Amino acid sequence: MLRVERLCAGYAGGTVLHEVSLDVRPATVQAVVGRNGAGKSTLVHTVAGLLRPHAGRIEIGGVQVAGRQPHRIARSGVGLVPQGRRVFSRLTVAEHLALAAAPWRAATPGGEGWTVPRILELLPRLAARLRHRGDQLSGGEQQMLAIARALLGQPRVLLLDEPCEGLAPDLAARVRDLVGALARGGLTVLLVEQQLQHAIEVADRIAVLEYGRVVYDRPAAEARADPGVLAAMLSVAAVGEPPASRPVPGLWPDPGTRPDHLRQG
Ligand SMILES: Nc1ncnc2c1ncn2[C@@H]1O[C@H](COP(=O)(O)OP(=O)(O)OP(=O)(O)O)[C@@H](O)[C@H]1O
Ligand SMILES: [Mg+2]
Repeated sequence: MLRVERLCAGYAGGTVLHEVSLDVRPATVQAVVGRNGAGKSTLVHTVAGLLRPHAGRIEIGGVQVAGRQPHRIARSGVGLVPQGRRVFSRLTVAEHLALAAAPWRAATPGGEGWTVPRILELLPRLAARLRHRGDQLSGGEQQMLAIARALLGQPRVLLLDEPCEGLAPDLAARVRDLVGALARGGLTVLLVEQQLQHAIEVADRIAVLEYGRVVYDRPAAEARADPGVLAAMLSVAAVGEPPASRPVPGLWPDPGTRPDHLRQG
């Protein structure tokens, strides 16, 4: 459903992604984990069309979209949940949903797809917060709202940039459950995370991005059977194991060791 082939992209300062290839099957979760600065957001932004690739292909449902404008890529079925959620502080939940569900981004011709009532049924927490402003929501609620907003764009492919970042463990688990449920419902998901434990349970496939290169890409079942391999690659402790010798800021399962600028809600 989403195929990325030898994708190269970056900024004026230089190339960040070096020949990245991924093949995300329909209705599965492909996780991409990598440290701070590995190029995860650059990958997601390039797929969404916010950054123009230098080379390579991006196919959505077999159609090559690399180089197209972001609104055209969105229309071909790509939804983005950006890092840091990007919820408007002064708009209420209801206003966010009304904007995202605006008729000019209307549903598929058959009328199927995500509607505000369907979203609120899926995310009752948002239903209870309809009149609250963005800045009155908890981090978990903001994340749910960011996902809701993307779903109302009727995506076939959902790009999630560190949705569990800065969330308490139970809220992160809720976000993961939601991602798993969406994939089982038919959505194709590219889930980018810095911390392995946010990805390993929900993913069907896990890739590791290091300095803009895919250095590992296997079925998640294999990674779960031998989490030490992945953990070593990321220089983190395997999920559930005590930390190894030298901590890397921002990568530890314990959010208390995260640098201040990465801490949220
Ligand atoms: N707008 C930009 N202009 C120039 N360089 C950038 C820009 N955004 C990111 N970079 C650089 O590109 C590299 C990859 O950054 P990117 O944001 O993709 O990493 P990331 O894996 O998402 O990191 P994090 O886990 O901190 O979100 C970094 O070296 C970063 O400094
Ligand atoms: Mg990022």
